[in-house]
Amino acid sequence: MDLPGEMIRSETIIADGQEFRLVLHREDLARIYTGMVRFTLRILRQEKMVASFCTNSHEYSPMSSLEAEGVALRTMKDWAEDLRRDYRTFLERFTKKPSPAPADSTTDILILQGSPRPDGNCSMLAGWAADAATRHGKRFQVVFLGDLQIHPCIGCYQCYSTGTCAYADDMEMLIPLLRSARLVVVCSPVYTNTVPGGLKIFIDRSQALHAQRSLGSDESPPSRGILLAVAGRRGAENFTCVTKVVGAFFRHLGIQPARSVLIDDLDTVRDVRTVPGIALRVGDAVDRSLAENPGERKA
Ligand SMILES: Cc1cc2nc3c(=O)[nH]c(=O)nc-3n(C[C@H](O)[C@H](O)[C@H](O)COP(=O)(O)O)c2cc1C
Repeated sequence: MDLPGEMIRSETIIADGQEFRLVLHREDLARIYTGMVRFTLRILRQEKMVASFCTNSHEYSPMSSLEAEGVALRTMKDWAEDLRRDYRTFLERFTKKPSPAPADSTTDILILQGSPRPDGNCSMLAGWAADAATRHGKRFQVVFLGDLQIHPCIGCYQCYSTGTCAYADDMEMLIPLLRSARLVVVCSPVYTNTVPGGLKIFIDRSQALHAQRSLGSDESPPSRGILLAVAGRRGAENFTCVTKVVGAFFRHLGIQPARSVLIDDLDTVRDVRTVPGIALRVGDAVDRSLAENPGERKA
């Protein structure tokens, strides 16, 4: 079995006539975050993994008396004792119950409507993007982030150990969509010079997908991103922060930014539908981005 990093400890346990090997690996993840180190503990039976535990240096706050290597070594000691005591009961903890895959967990085009207003300007932009997707005969999903329950990221860094978030909420449904979409369209109003809080929470929580990608457990094919944004005030400078935040989101997930349609001065006109040619501009952005992204992706 191929294990990551260098092995720093190994122990063989004989429990009730069964041989188990506990191995602890240390992996330098400085390529992801400066100073990040991950420890992976595994139990192998006949070279097949039957249990695993991961922890990384960034999971422990400066105020904590715990640190990753100490926790990993302590867990190794506890597991060895648990195995010797009653290996069957101990291993039951690691038996995964298969969960049925959600019915519609993949899409070609993911349209994220980031305004809390369900019937505002961003909803119109999302609708025009959906019209373009329909014209192309693509599968698409429009997600109103304001309708979802997504807990803010708490910076526990567990995703860099396990590849998944500590929270089980609506983000679980969005990650497969993000992973499968060949085109991601973000619709955002400018709120206090940046994106609205709900969209920012979603962006922070997509860090779990960044973790999967960085750890090599995600092999999504390349995708492209479009930003559709509206601002009340006049002037391109109103989009500086939104462009940076959404640009960073795209970059973290390996989504190549393709186009943006930025509409300012909407407090005067209020209704994005009154902006001449806007539906065509949005449709054109989708058309061109799809044309530049050759080949169908596998669902
Ligand atoms: C809380 C809040 C903060 C806003 N902050 C800004 C801002 O900093 N700059 C700006 O140009 N417009 C700002 N706006 C105006 C919105 O960007 C504008 O009304 C936009 O068209 C709303 O889009 P929606 O209809 O999709 O919600 C703000 C609006 C709200 C509700």
